Amino acid sequence: MKKLDNTTRGKLFFVGGGPGDPALMTLRGMEILKSASLVFAPGHYRDSYAAELSGKEFYDPFDFHYKDLVGKIDAALDAGRAVVFLVPGDLAIFSPVQSIISRYPDAEVIPGVSALNAASAALKRTFDLPGVSHSTIATSPKTINNSPDTIGALSRHRSTLVLFMNNKSPDALAAELAEGYPPDTPVAIVSLISLPGEGIVYSTVGGLPHDVDPLWFADEDAFKIVVVGKAVTAAEDPSWWDKRKDIRDKRLRENGKK
Ligand SMILES: C[S@@+](CC[C@H](N)C(=O)[O-])C[C@H]1O[C@@H](n2cnc3c(N)ncnc32)[C@H](O)[C@@H]1O
Repeated sequence: MKKLDNTTRGKLFFVGGGPGDPALMTLRGMEILKSASLVFAPGHYRDSYAAELSGKEFYDPFDFHYKDLVGKIDAALDAGRAVVFLVPGDLAIFSPVQSIISRYPDAEVIPGVSALNAASAALKRTFDLPGVSHSTIATSPKTINNSPDTIGALSRHRSTLVLFMNNKSPDALAAELAEGYPPDTPVAIVSLISLPGEGIVYSTVGGLPHDVDPLWFADEDAFKIVVVGKAVTAAEDPSWWDKRKDIRDKRLRENGKK
């Protein structure tokens, strides 16, 4: 990567930081992070990215009011510095940085591994399966208060539901999910993915109040993704594999390619 000197306007990068483990950052993101001298990253990256942040000027962006934050970024760019903003997970879902990105049209955005992707990998489950679930709804009980949706209303789709930033008790969440899902619908809670203490709790919509410790569920620092739906445990019919191959072979024969 080209080194920036003090006579050149610096560059701002928003880099997807992934679920926590730096090994899950993209190669491009890591290359850019290494080249930066000033990094803004939410506090929880302080430990897991300790080696990568060592020797760099580092701030938690949430410690600043907006005006002071952009003032710090502007000063660094004026001084020709490369500045990185570590975006939790990936920008696409529940990222609080849009007002900063929009202020800097020349900034570059590097994608990351969302906690949604990381939860799928931890569970070793794809969230859609033929005949089981064909859609995935990603939402948050915490932010949904400001929208016409409710967890109960979304549950009626019976798709795979992925919950970020849950702030409901096991009882309250179970009651809302029961508006759409049958009580035996599987639920997986994947916590602290790629971080010390990573774990998975399996339950069902009806079992949540008994299977889940309310104090642990309410602990916002023990990050959690809640996945609801049959796709969490359903077996896929392997005959789909052969059907797909037969359809593909037929198409290739028709096109004279086989
Ligand atoms: C403000 S949102 C950021 C989401 C982020 N933009 C993403 O793509 O993953 C924070 C929430 O993401 C989820 N999360 C982030 N990191 C996680 C991890 N390592 N393990 C489990 N859930 C995580 C939790 O639901 C947490 O409350």
